[in-house]
Amino acid sequence: MNNFIHQHQEFLPISINITDKKILIVGGGNAALTKVRSLHRFNVSITVIGIKIDPAFLEIDNIHIIHKSYDPSDLEGFFMVYACTDNKHTNEIIREHCHARSILVSLADNPRLSDFISPAIYKEGDMTVAVGSNGKNVKQSVMVRNNIKKNSGQDLEDGRGSEDNPDRIRVHLAKNPEKSNRNNKQKVIIAGFGPGDPGLMTLKTNQFLLEADVIFHDALLDAKFLEQYPARKIPVGKRCGQPHIRQNEINRLLVSAALRGEKVVRLKGGDPLIFGRAGEEIQHLTNNNIEVEIVPGITSVFAAAAQFRIPLTHRETGSSVAFCVGHNISNRSLPEADTLVFYMGASHQCEISKALIDQGWNRKTPVALISNVSNPNSKAVISQLDKLCKDQLLPDTPLLIIAGEVVKKMPEISGNIIQQEKRKMPLAI
Ligand SMILES: C[S@@+](CC[C@H](N)C(=O)[O-])C[C@H]1O[C@@H](n2cnc3c(N)ncnc32)[C@H](O)[C@@H]1O
Repeated sequence: MNNFIHQHQEFLPISINITDKKILIVGGGNAALTKVRSLHRFNVSITVIGIKIDPAFLEIDNIHIIHKSYDPSDLEGFFMVYACTDNKHTNEIIREHCHARSILVSLADNPRLSDFISPAIYKEGDMTVAVGSNGKNVKQSVMVRNNIKKNSGQDLEDGRGSEDNPDRIRVHLAKNPEKSNRNNKQKVIIAGFGPGDPGLMTLKTNQFLLEADVIFHDALLDAKFLEQYPARKIPVGKRCGQPHIRQNEINRLLVSAALRGEKVVRLKGGDPLIFGRAGEEIQHLTNNNIEVEIVPGITSVFAAAAQFRIPLTHRETGSSVAFCVGHNISNRSLPEADTLVFYMGASHQCEISKALIDQGWNRKTPVALISNVSNPNSKAVISQLDKLCKDQLLPDTPLLIIAGEVVKKMPEISGNIIQQEKRKMPLAI
């Protein structure tokens, strides 16, 4: 293939035999997603390679997703390649690599350098309508395609547009009942997994996981453990400092899976109703007339208290306990309770210490910092309020902070790190 590029390019609409052929998409963003959604209607093997992969890919069945940066050796065995990274230069390099191997390549947003381009497609069974404009007017191609589709009496909703709008999904499914499982109720189970050790998960959650078609799970959950459930697993967790999927995207994914009639489990760490954003999900699902059932889980502080034998209440020193968010607390008044538990406070230990002392807490109040509760790498450090600003006594996450005289009631008190041999319970399912 030569590198000479004509000013007036023309593309010949042909139908390529793709039976048993493998197609590679390089890139995990929007351009790649659009290609996958279009190709997915054909019976072809699709592989997506990218460092950052849009979570919406996870909703698409039967595609092979590889989280890695592109390397020319990735091209081996592929029939066609779509270079869809967000970097023009990288796409051009992929083109060179493809040409060196005589592989056809299409570059996102660059028909000029592409061996082929994708027309706007409408497919019903064996009939395919493809509308092209030599890559010059994509909008018009889509419009013409939509008009053809409309006049053929078919529903226009395909691709992302329909998934964004629950009413449109309902209309689409009503017209295409084969795409939904009508026997299933449109329902989402929001279930707690507990703090990490599967032995602390309830039998009810286990049962729902066994029956699920799709599990949307938090980042901190043991992905290896979840492998034993046959459902599709979609990680939707938010991890501190990491790129994450937005809450409204999670809401949208839950609604569209439920509307398709899938048995959906939204699995959350600890208890779903403690700092788990379950409230927003319940509201969104209910607004879309989707039934919600909640299965409680063991919240991390209950497991922490059990593991390190800290009574959260005590007849002598603790008649009340409050659960608090551990960040942005300087300008909030803290609850008046004998024991305070801070979630999400790992990088705000000094701020918490100052806020409590400012609000009249004794600076010698004992404090327990406890990380990775119920997991084999779990640790606890016992200290006191005014020491939290001096050193980062326990940098591990996830971390809980318990402040109050009850901490003194635990059997072993020392300034050292307490590590407990914690065996994860293998769960028989
Ligand atoms: C978004 S909140 C979710 C809380 C969860 N719903 C619960 O009930 O435990 C995340 C915070 O919970 C705490 N956390 C969760 N799992 C933990 C664990 N295994 N060990 C220590 N802290 C944990 C940490 O404070 C972390 O920052």
